Amino acid sequence: MKGGSIEEVDMKQIEIASQGGTTTGRKTGARRLAVNAAFLKDIKDDNQDLKGLLDQIIPITHHQQTATNHWPELITLLSDLRDQLALHFSLEEAYGYFDDAVVSTPELSVTAEVLRSEHPRLFADIRDLADQVTEICSDRPEQVNVFIQRFGAFQRAFEIHEERELKLILDSLDDDLGVGD
Ligand SMILES: [Fe+2]
Repeated sequence: MKGGSIEEVDMKQIEIASQGGTTTGRKTGARRLAVNAAFLKDIKDDNQDLKGLLDQIIPITHHQQTATNHWPELITLLSDLRDQLALHFSLEEAYGYFDDAVVSTPELSVTAEVLRSEHPRLFADIRDLADQVTEICSDRPEQVNVFIQRFGAFQRAFEIHEERELKLILDSLDDDLGVGD
């Protein structure tokens, strides 16, 4: 079974934290891109898996009847999404993505800290959704409607977070490359 327990998720996080990735020297003040091949490969795989899950989940949650028809699948997909987001957030943090890539200006550091601090809330939300989906009677349209609205709210919050993160990365790259100085 793909979903896995919290223990398995924790194991994955430990593996990620201990593998690959150069441990960049601590902050020397030098500007550098804190990326490497292992980091890029893991990020790429994670992004593909995450996109694949969202591409399956989002159409199912657009309409109550569609969600009702696919409820067992939705239970599995949300469990997988919870585990994927555990991996996603830990990857972003384990490689010093925030600490090293974004130290160049105080504004970017503040933004990085704000975005990192959103991870526990977002993870708690998807964990709760993955639990709630197992408790709902899928033949009760009002319960299904409430659930898909909750999922929609989570989806929007996650998308905003991801967009802000992408902008942060692009801003830090500009900064590293001396664009806009
Ligand atoms: Fe993030």
